[in-house]
Amino acid sequence: MDKLIISGPAKLRGEVTISASKNASLPILTATLLSTTPVTFKSLPKLRDVSTLFKLLKNLGATINSDDQNELTTINTTPISSLEATYDLVKTMRASFLVMGPLLARYGKAKVSLPGGCAIGARAIDIHLEALAKMGAKINLQGGYVEATLEHGPKRLQGNEIYLSFPSVGATENLMMAATLAHGTTVIKNAAQEPEIADLGEFLNRMGAKVQGAGSAEVIIEGQESLLFSGSPYVVIPDRIESATYLIAGVMTNSEITIHNINAKHLDAVIATLKDMGAKLEIDYDKKIIKTLLHQGLHGTHVATAPYPGFPTDVQAQLMALTTIAQTPSVITEHIFENRFMHVPELNRMGANIVLKGNSAFIDGQSTLKSAPVMCTDLRASAALVLAALAAEGQSEVCRIYHLDRGYEKIDQKLQTLNVDITRVPGDN
Ligand code: EPZ
Repeated sequence: MDKLIISGPAKLRGEVTISASKNASLPILTATLLSTTPVTFKSLPKLRDVSTLFKLLKNLGATINSDDQNELTTINTTPISSLEATYDLVKTMRASFLVMGPLLARYGKAKVSLPGGCAIGARAIDIHLEALAKMGAKINLQGGYVEATLEHGPKRLQGNEIYLSFPSVGATENLMMAATLAHGTTVIKNAAQEPEIADLGEFLNRMGAKVQGAGSAEVIIEGQESLLFSGSPYVVIPDRIESATYLIAGVMTNSEITIHNINAKHLDAVIATLKDMGAKLEIDYDKKIIKTLLHQGLHGTHVATAPYPGFPTDVQAQLMALTTIAQTPSVITEHIFENRFMHVPELNRMGANIVLKGNSAFIDGQSTLKSAPVMCTDLRASAALVLAALAAEGQSEVCRIYHLDRGYEKIDQKLQTLNVDITRVPGDN
């Protein structure tokens, strides 16, 4: 398995460009199953999770052509030959479950492996299934698979008013996609409001869907007979989690870096927290550029993760790495996932002083981080370890970085352009 060798403490300088959002790309790619015409994208992120989804779409019968020179990807899902997403793929990436809504809406049937838990939690899908059942789907759980059919009556899902017990991102996305081809209108209440939901709504409307309010707590979808993509290649929004990670890299090393293709409007909670801690940022909303400037030291913070627009759970680990070197203590509480503190033991091995009590982490601050061999456990925990290695004295080894490659495009190359002494050492995968 590959590892990264990072020499610290690093002083970053130069410019970096944020890639398109992983968590917007994945649902939008599953939504191509709704289109009766091929869909073309420009500048999709080159990530392991995107490749996994390409594999899943191909397994269903889709064809995918890439024009690397012009960064174009064309997906044609009209030759679909299977309605089954198998365990071997779904187990590697939960987002595979997002094919359920589109397949059911377009073909009246879908068989998708239960995603199973992952390192950070049980990752249930009860909210997805309850919602689809309210639209007329017959759900059968058997042998680790979810089989959804439209046995009785019309071969179409029925629009309905559906209140989500929790603003689940995935459930909102599955439901939106299913509703675009349903008979009648669907109203989703207590919908997730993440920017990735708004981008999915934008993409669905590019295919002729009638989606209103995507990105707000109430989404209204007027079902259509069919959808077809046309016009210029679709460009997915910038990745706000990658953006937050590079912002924290600049602040944590007290460096001046320039970050391009960053949508600061998607980062209110992160920017407010960093500024509260003493970070100095220069933000150009129109040009989508943020510069990190030199600061006079950082003080601790109290943060609790929450659904958007609250502080994102996907930035919790990276923020924790930053708080270890703040001059005063911090408290970080995780409300979204039940097991998202696996970066804590590894950060403590690098000299941090973090104590866990239930779903809160108490971080002492004032740590002088020391290099160490550390192990990645999940995507965002891995990013936290890279950040700590940038600030630590000495040469750190960050192992099992396949976790990182799931959600950070060319992270070693991007950090090298920021003057970081970082090497990727290929291992036996
Ligand atoms: C999306 O996951 C993101 N993934 C996650 O990012 C992100 O952490 C999460 O939203 C929260 O913002 C993608 O977009 C591909 P949820 P998702 O459904 O859709 C519980 C990353 O690092 N829940 O909002 O799975 C669930 O167990 C990844 O990029 C149910 O109980 O998130 C979890 O505790 C990690 N029943 C919480 O809700 C359900 O039916 C949030 O889940 C659905 C969810």
